[in-house]
Amino acid sequence: MYKTLKLIAILLVFTAAAVMFIIKDNSAFTAAQGGIMDKKVLVAYFSWSGNTKSVAEKIQSQTGGDIFEIIPQKPYPTDYHDTTVIAKQEKENNVKPPLKNNIDVSGYDVIFVGTPAWWYTMAPPVMTFLEENNFAGKTVVPFVTHGGGGGYTIDKDMAALAKGAKVLSPFVVYGSGGATTSADITKWIDGLNF
Ligand SMILES: Cc1cc2nc3c(=O)[nH]c(=O)nc-3n(C[C@H](O)[C@H](O)[C@H](O)COP(=O)(O)O)c2cc1C
Repeated sequence: MYKTLKLIAILLVFTAAAVMFIIKDNSAFTAAQGGIMDKKVLVAYFSWSGNTKSVAEKIQSQTGGDIFEIIPQKPYPTDYHDTTVIAKQEKENNVKPPLKNNIDVSGYDVIFVGTPAWWYTMAPPVMTFLEENNFAGKTVVPFVTHGGGGGYTIDKDMAALAKGAKVLSPFVVYGSGGATTSADITKWIDGLNF
């Protein structure tokens, strides 16, 4: 009799521990994913040589959002130096080049906006994209790839163009990132208050 009671008590303790573990695990899942998973997400990016595209695809696969490539009507040259010359002229003259395509952002809650650092700010086609669309009431999440200069004030520059948007802390990475980039993106997204 005593042995049976002892066995029942042990079983009860184990069952309670298992239930508590499952509840705890589920709430952790909800806390980590709930911020973004119940939102309609768009990942919009411009990329000249593929680095920003690679980061955009990682963000898209983690958020389950739609993806949109911002493409200027007139393509930039394939030559790096020629592209830097044109981009510098555009920056100096505050040119916002017309786009080949656009997307209606009205159906999205959160719009990740990706750009390479070009002459200490975002690439001009991204400026066009932010200026031409209505971001009032939206959450804009910048991400930047760069060649060593960092993210500059690109998040603030985006905030100035995306009028009425809440702009969150950017993800900034050198080139296309490295072995830890996917994990870094997960950590960054988990830390954002959508
Ligand atoms: C026109 C142009 C301007 C650039 N200006 C900068 C810059 O100011 N600071 C920097 O760190 N990298 C600069 N870079 C390097 C790019 O930001 C970097 O290579 C980026 O990861 C490229 O992204 P993408 O492959 O998506 O085009 C520049 C590159 C180009 C083509």
